[in-house]
Amino acid sequence: METNTKNTGLALVVGGSSGIGSATAQLLLDRGYQVHIIGRDSERLLKASAQMPAVITHQADAGDPEALVQVAAGLGAIDILVVTAGGAEGMGPFADLDLAALRRAFDAKFWAQVVTVQAVLPYLAPAASITVVGAITARSAMPGTAGLAAVNAAVEALVRPLAVELAPRRVNAVSPGFVDTPWWSGIPEPSRVAYFEQAAAALPARQIAGPEQIAEAIAFVATNRNVTGTVIETDGGARLVTI
Ligand SMILES: NC(=O)c1ccc[n+]([C@@H]2O[C@H](COP(=O)([O-])OP(=O)(O)OC[C@H]3O[C@@H](n4cnc5c(N)ncnc54)[C@H](OP(=O)(O)O)[C@@H]3O)[C@@H](O)[C@H]2O)c1
Repeated sequence: METNTKNTGLALVVGGSSGIGSATAQLLLDRGYQVHIIGRDSERLLKASAQMPAVITHQADAGDPEALVQVAAGLGAIDILVVTAGGAEGMGPFADLDLAALRRAFDAKFWAQVVTVQAVLPYLAPAASITVVGAITARSAMPGTAGLAAVNAAVEALVRPLAVELAPRRVNAVSPGFVDTPWWSGIPEPSRVAYFEQAAAALPARQIAGPEQIAEAIAFVATNRNVTGTVIETDGGARLVTI
C-alpha cells in the first residue's frame, strides 16, 4: 500500500459503496486523496465505511440532481469525479427483450450518469477529471446484449464531445468486460461460478477481472493530465471472442 501523503485532492465516487466504485475509492484513498462516495442503500454505505474508515459516505441517488447538488455543494472543489452507478437490467435475447426493462436500464445507467455529471459540474475544480464507466458490450457482439450495448454505447459516446466542450477539464470512460462484483448477484451462485469458469476459459486473458483491476484503469485516466476523450478497454479481450 502507498502512503497517504502524496496527494491532497478531493475525489467523489458516485457508486462507491460496492464493486468497481468501492475498489476505486480504496485505490484513491491509498494514493492520498480525500475520498467521498455516494450510494443509495444505507447498509451498503455502512459496510463500505467499515471497510474503508477514511472514506466519507453520502446517501443520494445518482438520478436525483437536487440530492447530488446538496452533497457536492458541501465538499469544496472536486478534483476527481468517478461515476460507476448503473443497474443490471436490459440483458436478454432481442426477440423477447422486455422493453420496459430496457428503458429502466437507460434510466439506471445512462441517465444516472448524465444527471450526475451535469449536477456536479459546477463543483468541479478547473483542472478536474470526469470518468464514467461503460461496458465492453458497447463494442462486442455477444448475443443477448443488444440492450446493454445500446446503454453502454450511449454512455461512452458522451466522452469525446464532452472532453472538448468541458476542457480543460478531462473526460474519459473505462469499459470493463467481466468483473467479479455484486453486479452479478442476481444469478444464483452455482450458475454464476459455472458461467464465470466458462467465460474465463474463452477470454484471451483467461480470467474474470477483479474490481481492483478496473480501478487501476480508472485511476490512470482520472489522474493522468494527458489523457482525455478516451475510452479505455479493460475487458480481458472479451470484445475479440464469442462467449
Ligand atoms: N461487474 C461487471 O461485470 C461489469 C462489467 C462491465 C461494466 N460494468 C459496469 O460497472 C459499473 C459498476 O458496476 P459494479 O460491477 O461495480 O456493480 P455493483 O457492485 O453492483 O456496484 C454498483 C454501485 O453503484 C451504486 N449505484 C447504483 N445505482 C445508483 C444510483 N442511482 N445512485 C447512487 N448509487 C448507485 C450501488 O449502490 P446502491 O445500489 O446502494 O445505490 C453500488 O455502490 C456499472 O455501471 C456496470 O454496468 C460492470
